[in-house]
Amino acid sequence: MTLLTVWADDDPSAVLVRTEDGEEIATELKRLGVRFERWPVVEGLPAEPTSEEVLAAYADRVQRVIDQEGYVLVDALHMTPSDDPEWTARAAEARQKFLAEHTHDDDEDRFFARGAGAFYLHVDGKVYAVLCEAGDLLSVPANTTHWFDMGTRPDYVSVRFFHDEDGWVGNFTGNRYAEVFPDFDTLVATRSAPR
Ligand SMILES: [Fe+2]
Repeated sequence: MTLLTVWADDDPSAVLVRTEDGEEIATELKRLGVRFERWPVVEGLPAEPTSEEVLAAYADRVQRVIDQEGYVLVDALHMTPSDDPEWTARAAEARQKFLAEHTHDDDEDRFFARGAGAFYLHVDGKVYAVLCEAGDLLSVPANTTHWFDMGTRPDYVSVRFFHDEDGWVGNFTGNRYAEVFPDFDTLVATRSAPR
């Protein structure tokens, strides 16, 4: 299940909120200006789908987000585990890229069509970890301090939405919060089974 965990940013040992209830998660996140929705998962996508196949499977809902939020570029990508050492190296590199706290001046809107990934939002002295699963749409508003952990064995298909054809560049804060809060693998180990 999707899991929201909230801590004070100076105490990773004290959990303030922990919930797998979709409504509660949406309510908590709404206060931060974050949109959280759950979409029905479309079955039957290939294991390594093309961007077109994913976008076609979710065409209506993706279009609704584009219309509402004015996105100009949408694509889908997958990380599909393999035992090839080259893949492992590539996955580790991809994970590191946004594992440190950063901001960007565009929204980060993600839909997970498969697998899981964890967004950590650092707002008003608290850290909100949202472990997303298949069917979850999460929008991190522009300039929100956050990081993203795809875990040590990334496995997901996600749709990305951009307001700019060039995508965005992360502005790294230099803060090391990501190193002290439970990572993706730890969160996954403690949640209920995926839907
Ligand atoms: Fe980001």
